[in-house]
Amino acid sequence: MALYLVTGGCGFIGSHLADALVAAGHGVRILDDLSTGKRENAPRAAEIVVGDVADAAIVRRATAGVAGCFHLAAIASVARSNEDWAGTHRVNLTGAINVFDAARAQQGGPVPVVYVSSAAVYGDNPNVPLSEDAATRPLTAYGADKLGCELHARVAHTVHRVPVVGFRFFNIYGPRQDPRSPYSGVISIFTDRILAGRPVEVHGDGEQTRDFVYVADAVRFLIRGMAGPFGDSRVFNVCTGRATSVNALARIIGEAAGKRVELRHAAPRSGDIRVSIGDPRAAASALGIRVETAIEDGLRTTVASIAAAGG
Ligand code: NAD
Ligand code: UD1
Repeated sequence: MALYLVTGGCGFIGSHLADALVAAGHGVRILDDLSTGKRENAPRAAEIVVGDVADAAIVRRATAGVAGCFHLAAIASVARSNEDWAGTHRVNLTGAINVFDAARAQQGGPVPVVYVSSAAVYGDNPNVPLSEDAATRPLTAYGADKLGCELHARVAHTVHRVPVVGFRFFNIYGPRQDPRSPYSGVISIFTDRILAGRPVEVHGDGEQTRDFVYVADAVRFLIRGMAGPFGDSRVFNVCTGRATSVNALARIIGEAAGKRVELRHAAPRSGDIRVSIGDPRAAASALGIRVETAIEDGLRTTVASIAAAGG
């Protein structure tokens, strides 16, 4: 079995990936600065290197001897990228370049990198569902840096012969997404508040939509990505093709939690995308993989896990 580096492996998605790799018998080394991630999220069998992905020397050390890298470390909040433009850029783009560079410099030759991009690269493109060849017009520093990752992945592939595959994740949700951070995903924030009988704050009119993907599905895409195809620096959507508005989401969570929901409308968030729906067909045909979990099922598990944690 192989040893893999998982950057961001103490975070929400990265820790589920690390679990799945360990369960499949692989070795896992995690590089994480524990800024939003937690040690206890990671499987016990994983080796944890605490450090900054924007520090090239640490990334090179963490990459030594691995068979491949899964790059997830990032400041995942669009709102934080609005507030701290240069700081998030350093992590979100320089960090990715460091991982590509360390993968190319491996002793036995370049090792593959599977990295996570985002639906944020499309910006407010109304031609939904968005396929991978739709125009990319990011509205935020976060989206611009994720597009930058894709451009540098192409450099890694064409100039340095690093095998790369990228995934444009739409909105991922599930257990371990921090419900208490204002920078967390809408599902965990809403679930925490609804369970506590508190009102949820809806940015704008709440009719903006997202394409929600359960975390276990996202992990299957990442693992599948490590098998290529590496012939080009391909990027695939990870999405369902179905839209859920923020208002509808609050209602479905209320039903799953068995609670009444009170909505409070606040000002729209700057750079907020109005309509986000992906076209899942490219990954289905090239990789033979699609999202399988219905949102009602994924939400039931998520609500139960936040409730069990005392949410
Ligand atoms: P998360 O915040 O739970 O995970 C990010 C992890 O990276 C955390 O463990 C954090 O401590 C670590 N990290 C942050 N800065 C670091 C640094 N400088 N050096 C080393 N580690 C650092 O968020 P997540 O939702 O699990 O996101 C994982 C990846 O998926 C990110 O690249 C994010 O942009 C991407 N993504 C997430 C979603 C989503 O809906 N959650 C959607 C699209 C893309
Ligand atoms: C999310 C991810 C981002 C990813 C992108 C891909 C997080 C924190 N961000 O961004 O990493 O690249 O999906 O599509 O997971 N909202 C409210 N009230 C709240 C919180 C949010 O109304 O209390 C609204 C937001 O304004 C937005 C929607 O819910 O319209 C989703 O917000 P959020 O969960 O922060 O995700 P994205 O910004 O879509």
